[in-house]
Amino acid sequence: MKGNTLFNIVGNTPLVKLNKINPAKNVEIYVKLEFFNPSGSVKDRIVKHIIDNAERNGLLKPGGTIVENTSGNTGAAVAMIAAIKGYKAILTMPDKVSEEKQNALKAYGAEIVVTPTSALPNSPEHYVNTAIRIAEETPNSFRINQYDNLLNPEAHYLTTGPEIWEQTEGKVTHFVAAGSTGGTISGTAKFLKEQNPNIKVLMPDPVGSIYYDYFKTGKYDLSSACTYHVEGVGEDHIAKAMDFSLVDEMYKFTDQDAFSVARQLAKTEGIFGGGTGGANVWAALKLAETLTEPAVIVTIIPDSGVKYLSKLYNDKWMKDNNFSV
Ligand SMILES: Cc1ncc(COP(=O)(O)O)c(C=O)c1O
Repeated sequence: MKGNTLFNIVGNTPLVKLNKINPAKNVEIYVKLEFFNPSGSVKDRIVKHIIDNAERNGLLKPGGTIVENTSGNTGAAVAMIAAIKGYKAILTMPDKVSEEKQNALKAYGAEIVVTPTSALPNSPEHYVNTAIRIAEETPNSFRINQYDNLLNPEAHYLTTGPEIWEQTEGKVTHFVAAGSTGGTISGTAKFLKEQNPNIKVLMPDPVGSIYYDYFKTGKYDLSSACTYHVEGVGEDHIAKAMDFSLVDEMYKFTDQDAFSVARQLAKTEGIFGGGTGGANVWAALKLAETLTEPAVIVTIIPDSGVKYLSKLYNDKWMKDNNFSV
């Protein structure tokens, strides 16, 4: 029976049309609701694929420990799968990760290690370096290594891309996704462009991330990187899972852009997504304004608004951080 374990119901998420928020006449916008995955985000797809592979290749053995650096969603997927399969999970994350996300990992029985968001990528305190060190020091451990593991985009190439192609009956013309590891955008774009090379791919990037400059100039200056509130997209280093050759255009967005559209999505469409879903829809709406021909834009709602009740869905937090509500 297909739905007999949580592990088997990852993916095959719904795709729904935005009916109210999109004023464009000839452009349809669809969102893929990744919060329907069992741990509540798009990351179930990659963790399932990577763990399957690690078990098959003997890299993860019974009684082993899974270690990962995560902004919370990969951690939830790891923690859920570790709980199902009887592994131990140790997860490192920057301290900007919402309390709800940190507590969710503990609920699954994972150990969490919180590091300063301001730690630079080359510092031992950075959450990625912390995870590397813990993996080295822990016997019988396996690190997911989501940033540089090519099984990450492969998971999207094998699942997210084909699902979107099928759900739009091959009518998709544009794909929009902000990225962190870049797995979602790279794997999905690769599959979609193989089906139809005319499909255009757009990546929104938060102000403060290095990806936009890297895409536009081939270079980046870490001194111009800064912290921002949106959790889970943008980067301070170039991930190997991110393939810029598949990206046609990038937009820069602000926290306010992402949060305003996320809140509007909940109020007008009944879609309660996180801040990155807001950023993706903000970019899809901006793209729609530029299109003169009929188009079908698909974008992603990577996770649920429930994970951000104390932040972008909390008016006091918004005002305290100088955002308008
Ligand atoms: C909330 C959220 N949105 C989007 C993404 C981006 O996904 P990817 O790492 O596949 O680029 C992440 C990744 O951590 C995330 O947590």
